[in-house]
Amino acid sequence: MTARVISVINQKGGVGKTTTSVNMSHGLALSGYRVLAIDLDPQAHLASSLGITREDIAGLDAVFLKGVPLHSVQITVRENLKLISAGGHLNEVENLDGGKSRGLLLKRALDQYNEDVDFIIIDSPPSSGLLVINALFAAEEILIPMTGDYLAMQGLSHLMATLTNFEEALQKSYKQWIVLSRFHDRRRLAQEVRDKLIEYFPDSVLQTSISEAAALAECPGFGQTVYEYRPNSKSADEYTSLVNDLISGRVF
Ligand SMILES: Nc1ncnc2c1ncn2[C@@H]1O[C@H](COP(=O)(O)OP(=O)(O)OP(=O)(O)O)[C@@H](O)[C@H]1O
Ligand SMILES: [Mg+2]
Repeated sequence: MTARVISVINQKGGVGKTTTSVNMSHGLALSGYRVLAIDLDPQAHLASSLGITREDIAGLDAVFLKGVPLHSVQITVRENLKLISAGGHLNEVENLDGGKSRGLLLKRALDQYNEDVDFIIIDSPPSSGLLVINALFAAEEILIPMTGDYLAMQGLSHLMATLTNFEEALQKSYKQWIVLSRFHDRRRLAQEVRDKLIEYFPDSVLQTSISEAAALAECPGFGQTVYEYRPNSKSADEYTSLVNDLISGRVF
């Protein structure tokens, strides 16, 4: 399997991790890439944003708690797009025995996953607990959605320090991407934060920022991605452009 495995991470809540995961996954799928989207958040917002609201279907919880293979719980949600939902018991993973190996659950499940996919997008919860550790072990690339304010910058330095610790411990080096996912393009502060990010993290900030837009907040209520809800919107265009940034590594 030669998929690019990308974990979408930020310990801060509500920054656009799920919105980015959903619309990027669908954007990639619409461009003809085969995508597996994984809901690593017990809130299960990735699944519901894609219109999957049944709580009784098994998902990643069964993979982690019962050892069933990933492919047995994947569901095809759009052309070229498969989903592993969180399942209703994913938060119980925190109670599992097994010490350090509990952080490797997702990585091991992916190592056994033999299907041909081009991208695996992992949406993670707003925490720095065991589930996020699983996201860090499993991925080679980290995508960090950020809002454009100064407190977000502080949170980011904390996150970057965590990533560096992981890199040292695992002797690997992540490709790190930052996306401004709730960008107020008319606010000077947002522009300033973007400039600072580019200065501090050269080769990481993706060129397209996603503007704050009502359409993006409305989509999940309809179980639709922006490409379905408002295909001709600025938001849809921005996501397509962001997808192309990610495909070709277009950064500032
Ligand atoms: N660019 C945007 N414009 C407008 N609303 C947005 C945008 N991005 C995200 N939102 C909205 O903001 C809220 C939080 O976004 P989202 O759920 O994607 O964040 P998150 O980081 O996944 O949150 P959590 O940490 O709880 O998992 C949602 O209601 C979402 O619809
Ligand atoms: Mg989320």
